Amino acid sequence: MKLAVVGGGSTYTPELVDGFARLRDTLPVSELVLVDPAAGRLNLVGGLARRIFAKQGHAGRVITTSDLDAGIDGADAVLLQLRVGGQAARNEDETWPLECGCVGQETTGAGGLAKALRTVPVVLDIAERVRRGNPDAWIIDFTNPVGIVTRALLSHGHKAVGLCNVAIGFQRRFAALLGVTPEEVSLDHVGLNHLTWERAVRVNGEDMLPQLLGKHLTDIADDLHLPADVVQQLGVVPSYYLRYYYQHDAVVQELLHKPSRAAEVAALEKELLDMYADPQLDEKPALLEKRGGAYYSEAAVALASSLLNDTGDVQVVNTLNNGTFSFLADDAVIEVPATVNAQGAQPAAVSPLEPLYAGLVAHVTAYEDLALQAAVHGGADRVFRALLAHPLVGQISIAQELTDKLLAHNKAYLPWA
Ligand code: G6P
Ligand code: MN
Repeated sequence: MKLAVVGGGSTYTPELVDGFARLRDTLPVSELVLVDPAAGRLNLVGGLARRIFAKQGHAGRVITTSDLDAGIDGADAVLLQLRVGGQAARNEDETWPLECGCVGQETTGAGGLAKALRTVPVVLDIAERVRRGNPDAWIIDFTNPVGIVTRALLSHGHKAVGLCNVAIGFQRRFAALLGVTPEEVSLDHVGLNHLTWERAVRVNGEDMLPQLLGKHLTDIADDLHLPADVVQQLGVVPSYYLRYYYQHDAVVQELLHKPSRAAEVAALEKELLDMYADPQLDEKPALLEKRGGAYYSEAAVALASSLLNDTGDVQVVNTLNNGTFSFLADDAVIEVPATVNAQGAQPAAVSPLEPLYAGLVAHVTAYEDLALQAAVHGGADRVFRALLAHPLVGQISIAQELTDKLLAHNKAYLPWA
């Protein structure tokens, strides 16, 4: 089985490689190709990847290349984990929206729109080339903003599933709190990528969420930086991205007074790459836990295995709505538990969305639709419309100001701007 990782020079890659090594019975990877334009970085990450495989007795070959077409040629699955413009572009996304009193974040709000505009054309080009290299190849998209990027891929007829680690993170956390294995925990996880709620946490069919919120309320709420009494009152667990909505103005104040996450990550990456350069290092370093990618490898291996081995098990992924939420179009992309097999991911049945979630989900889906139009066709007017439709923007003067700033800060990436 040949797997290619586009953005393979990412400092996240050792997490992924460690997963491929540990879970080789689930997903027997014989050839792992790391593709990245940044040759220096790729070299360091590739070296460590080979040492991780060797230490764990994995017979698979690790190949590094900056030649995209050669790297993806004949791959059974291609993982996309790229970041157009790197942490420098992310730093901008996290900064200029704050000047308009709006949250600066890599996937949420105006910063997320900028990322979508830079990323969608690049990903669509890669996907065309993947299809040329192997029309049957599956694309697993971890590239943010995952909801919009997955919708772009699916609307262009690609074989794609979008992946995020928020759900698997909750599954592992709740399993540990309940003293059961992660496999015993199934989540009633509903919404859109980075806009989700855990409505139930089932073990053997029984909903353990009331018990979790009874015993571990403070721990759970602290993780999310949300007030414990509100989490208790809602009776559901929102993802930490909901904080950008529920406490928007407070988050803006916080962000104004601390370094950006991009700056923190850039410093971490420097340290990580220095460690990866050490020929003695043959495992993923503990420092990697300071990045947000926990359990990414488990989620990716499980998804690739279900797609390539036609297992038909249920995993939380990003896929077409297809009637799951009655108030959304069939071609909207949602994040829910889905049956995954060789045909792709089909949402499992979920109970209707209550108004508490449905309003935001509808609102953000409309924004994502407009964001995709702007990313594919370009144009300041389309950018403005997407921002005006965003629940965190919504006002003409702010949307106009944000549009100007977005275009000014992204000229190098948007040929039409
Ligand atoms: C989580 C999210 C990802 C996001 C990452 C950021 O894993 O699900 O979508 O990219 O956090 O982590 P970072 O270390 O880059 O801040
Ligand atoms: Mn994510």
